[in-house]
Amino acid sequence: FHVDMDANETDKGTYPFYMLKEIDEQPNVMRRLAQVYLSETGEPVISDKLLNSMKQADRIYIVGAGTSYHAGLVGKRLFESLTQTPTEVHVSSEFAYEQPILSKKPFFIFLSQSGETADSREVLVNVNAGGHESLTITNVQNSTLSREATYTLLLHAGPEIAVASTKAYTAQIALEAILAKALGEADNQIVAQRFDVRHQLGLVATGIQAIVDEKNKIEELAKSTFLDTPNAFYIGRGIDQNVSLEAALKLKEISYVQAEGFASGELKHGTIALIEKGTPVIGIITQEKTAGLTRSNLQETMARGAHILTIVSENLAKPGDDIVLPDVDELMTPLLSVVPTQLIAYYTSLNKGLDVDKPRNLAKSVTVE
Ligand code: G6P
Repeated sequence: FHVDMDANETDKGTYPFYMLKEIDEQPNVMRRLAQVYLSETGEPVISDKLLNSMKQADRIYIVGAGTSYHAGLVGKRLFESLTQTPTEVHVSSEFAYEQPILSKKPFFIFLSQSGETADSREVLVNVNAGGHESLTITNVQNSTLSREATYTLLLHAGPEIAVASTKAYTAQIALEAILAKALGEADNQIVAQRFDVRHQLGLVATGIQAIVDEKNKIEELAKSTFLDTPNAFYIGRGIDQNVSLEAALKLKEISYVQAEGFASGELKHGTIALIEKGTPVIGIITQEKTAGLTRSNLQETMARGAHILTIVSENLAKPGDDIVLPDVDELMTPLLSVVPTQLIAYYTSLNKGLDVDKPRNLAKSVTVE
């Protein structure tokens, strides 16, 4: 299969920063993944060898750092929903030195945009020494983690140059969805058979496009809410909580706003003490069964002076919601809900006059432990 790449993939063109270019590329990355990994009829094209190895596993261990770890948290939901395989997600720097007790037949998935993260490699060395099979999902062909794992799947996201990861996160989640669909189907799981990943990726691609087309609105919101705040909270439950961690990381990395992602229901058990007049609290609401609960948690913070904002799926939206996301399957909502949070971080950084692509103290690829 041949994938056409733009002539100047590493050229910023008319973009002031790579990060905005990479945010804008996400609809195409979704389509490219569908082209590479799905047949014309929408069936996953994943090697039988890999699927057979995974089928034998009684537990999946996902390992990653930073944004890749956050993509793993969403991956757990996908693998558990579509394949019924218990899945654990670990921060690589922790796993490397405090290895949990492994199941009888573990299968490891390494998530790494660069394929070079030393913390993750340390885990892979141990996994290989233990004789376990593994898959690296990476954006870089022939990277260290790719060479040393049993299997590799490439993200095909094109070079990601901004230090803050955007399109690699959404590509990782989309590829996890395709892989979970393939594995679930190979195992005759009805939920997987019914999950139309091709249709979903199409909806996601147009959905992301609709969000990035409204970037002016998000820029205004970023100016009015995040420019002068020292701190902020993203809250959500379940998969929305997973995204809240990534949303907060973006704001920290490039805008230097002290931000926390939080399980909505946990806020009242201590952290709500930090809410003052004007503290931004952003609720991510995409799951029907917990939407009402997160809304109540937002109200609790508002009663203490918080400036609340909402990022809500269309089918759950109410008048007054700030950012409304086109509807997709509840498992795929992170691919949309993260996008406004990427843009909020981008515009906050930009309007503070910071170097969006090269934030202080950070490196794109960290090859020390
Ligand atoms: C660095 C980058 C992060 C990235 C993390 C993991 O800390 O600044 O943006 O998420 O490494 O990188 P990887 O290449 O393994 O996904």
